Amino acid sequence: MKITVIGAGYVGLITATCFADLGNEVLCVEKIESNVHKLQKGISHIYEQGLTEILQKNLEEGRIRFTTDMEEAVKFSEIIFICVGTPQSDDGKADLSQVEDVSRQIAQYLNGYKLIVEKSTVPVNTHQWVKKTIARYAHEKSEFDVASNPEFLREGVAIHDFMNPDRIVVGVESEKARTIFEKLYLPFTNEGHPLLITNPAAAELIKHASNSFLAMKISYINMISALCEKVGVDVNMVAQGIGLDNRVGEKFLNAGIGYGGSCFPKDVQAFIKIAEDHGLEFGLLKETEKINAFQRRAFLDKIEDIMWINKDKNIAVWGLAFKPDTDDIREAPAIDVVRELEANGANLSLYDQEAMTNFKNIFPESKRIKYFEDKYQALKDADALLIITEWDEFKQADLKKVKELMRLPIIIDGRNIFEPSDMGEFEYYSMGR
Ligand code: UGA
Repeated sequence: MKITVIGAGYVGLITATCFADLGNEVLCVEKIESNVHKLQKGISHIYEQGLTEILQKNLEEGRIRFTTDMEEAVKFSEIIFICVGTPQSDDGKADLSQVEDVSRQIAQYLNGYKLIVEKSTVPVNTHQWVKKTIARYAHEKSEFDVASNPEFLREGVAIHDFMNPDRIVVGVESEKARTIFEKLYLPFTNEGHPLLITNPAAAELIKHASNSFLAMKISYINMISALCEKVGVDVNMVAQGIGLDNRVGEKFLNAGIGYGGSCFPKDVQAFIKIAEDHGLEFGLLKETEKINAFQRRAFLDKIEDIMWINKDKNIAVWGLAFKPDTDDIREAPAIDVVRELEANGANLSLYDQEAMTNFKNIFPESKRIKYFEDKYQALKDADALLIITEWDEFKQADLKKVKELMRLPIIIDGRNIFEPSDMGEFEYYSMGR
């Protein structure tokens, strides 16, 4: 099938390359010209496991193209995915100006029937506005449908998630739209992946409700972890004990420094606002946010309890990305930790296998902040090592070497990557254990 994708950001680029890889002919339109030039050469401006390989393969085989020309993109196909940003505005609501702008542009270039699909995360009933906007600005009467098809991709494993979805959710209002989606997603339904077909409002709501539920699950276990510390119980045992109940499930019960990233913090905030706009107070989610903030504070308090005075201490930090397998540092806990320790006058040696370039934009190298290309180099003469992201390479670290390099063998682990019973050589602290 022919597919247009508007926006070559995170969601757009994964959507475009994966649909191309499934054998579709994809045109992806992006307004940032420099990114289009790079993408045309097979260079991705975002880091995502496996993306470069599949991008290059599909460019070579002629199934994907990139352009800045919106008119060409709209006229190219019947199916148009909107994958533009919906960032948080100052009041916590989603800023929908890019969705509105794109809707007006689509309206201008309509040339026959179009199925316009929201993939960006939007508040419930945004499809009504998209529909109204296109109808208002369309220069000729053309038939079109607006549908919702939210994404459930985790950064770092987005291609895997796209190709192996737990479920595909689409919200449609016409038989025609339904039939197009059934055909588009046939490679998945043939393999037994469920396709849930509902109306657009329900699909929009499912996205916010899913992310908020997962954030709530993390905050729940983090609150349990705070209690575990008080009563001397290992939170991992508790998580296992709860998670083995199929009704709860084991996933997303890893206690630690809390959630970050471009999705959970923003989506929980937006969902609270959506409820508020409808006269409902979503106290459960407000508490979710509160616990998440408390967890970062608790990690910093722990450092102070252990180190007493942070000033002039050499502190090594392993992990800056908000989670492993990404270079993304948006809402990363490491930002709060480094900011506070720098203000305390600590000397910080930072290491992350992917996120250092992004981190340098916020914390340039300075007298107190140094970056290292090797995780062990960052440990030289350290008084403590903080672990903030659970990269596999940290789990596999040579602990003998770690101990030899450090001035004091103190590890404060915000992600519980080691077993306390294996850490006899160290003064080892973790979360909720
Ligand atoms: C999340 C959702 O998992 C995706 O389904 C969704 O599509 C995406 O948001 C989105 O809305 O675009 P993502 O933000 O990439 O994906 O990352 P997750 O793997 O969900 O992790 C989010 C945060 O929660 C990370 O900071 C992670 O460290 C933290 N986390 C996760 C925990 O602290 N404990 C856990 O048990 C799991």
